[in-house]
Amino acid sequence: MTLDNLDTPALLVDLDAMDANLVAMQQRVSAKGVKLRPHTKAHKIPALAMKQLSLGAEGICTAKLGEAEVMAEAGIEDILITTPIANPIKYQRLVALHLAYPEGKFCQVVDHADHILGIGKYAMDAGITVELLIEVESGQQRCGVAVGEPLVTLIELIQATDGVSYRGIQAYSGHLQHVKGFNERQAQARTAVVGIFEFIDSHLRPMNLAPDVISGGGTGTYEAYDGLGFTEIQAGSYIFMDAAYRGIGNREGRAINDEFSNALKVWTTVISHPTKERAVVDAGMKCLSIDMGMPLVEDREDIRYQTGGDEHGILHLADNHAGLAIGQRLMMLPSHCDTTLNSYSTLYGIRGDRVINSWDIAGRGRSD
Ligand SMILES: Cc1ncc(COP(=O)(O)O)c(C=O)c1O
Repeated sequence: MTLDNLDTPALLVDLDAMDANLVAMQQRVSAKGVKLRPHTKAHKIPALAMKQLSLGAEGICTAKLGEAEVMAEAGIEDILITTPIANPIKYQRLVALHLAYPEGKFCQVVDHADHILGIGKYAMDAGITVELLIEVESGQQRCGVAVGEPLVTLIELIQATDGVSYRGIQAYSGHLQHVKGFNERQAQARTAVVGIFEFIDSHLRPMNLAPDVISGGGTGTYEAYDGLGFTEIQAGSYIFMDAAYRGIGNREGRAINDEFSNALKVWTTVISHPTKERAVVDAGMKCLSIDMGMPLVEDREDIRYQTGGDEHGILHLADNHAGLAIGQRLMMLPSHCDTTLNSYSTLYGIRGDRVINSWDIAGRGRSD
């Protein structure tokens, strides 16, 4: 099959670009003596997680317990769930996941005593121990306990609670992943976490509470932490890239980030051309997310995409543009890979204009 035969809108991945991205990140993180634990919220496809593991990843991250259930069912055994859970229904599901896959190595992120006591209770009743990573404040002001006495209190609570064990710390500065300019981004990312490592050395280590695992970093910051003590990097978007990550700049000071290639694309059709300057494609915000800005039209700087609502994308054509044909196909680069992918059931792998394979996006919609 070729792209001509594929109906639209369709979610595509350039297989060669994706493979190169996968190898590059693994090599770069390994070269620093750090483990890579890819964040699979970007793709939600067990076969791609397997590929990451086969290239040398330590294990995987999932954002949510629901995604972890999908990955475990597919046979993936080492999963860090990076978002806290906070309800007896979830605590019981987490324990059920452990019981269903006794060989599995699961770890849950927490940042409050209630998480520890809730998970501990159900785990103890089931006769198992659930490993926990404590999320610490790393500048984003999202989840994360303050570094200092509140962190010590949580570590000591885990150690005093049956059914849970202390594995380490998660420090993820999501707000800095898209800081423009390589040097500026690296400097801000380092500054955001350096106090955590000072506290580990000055307080936790002497108290015998130093974490075995320190997990964090993303596609924008995976190189920022040399020598600080992260044991694993959680980058996710690098597998696909998107227009937002494309625009953060590279280390040579250029505006385009070419460290990884844009592999994720959306194949669309021109469905209307009401005026000379304006055409419309069949991809609106239900299949091309706009939370990180507008998608780009690939290799077409003469065309600017603007959302036209749920199901329409408005194209503004440059002055003196020759115009587009009704039915013409155009390739879009999504602005945000995660939220775009979550709208699709299928991802098609392409090489040039040939459609090579497809995957079910099994974890799609599993924000539960
Ligand atoms: C906790 C956590 N870790 C890692 C990542 C990976 O970041 P990226 O996809 O930007 O590489 C994210 C992204 O949302 C995250 O929330």
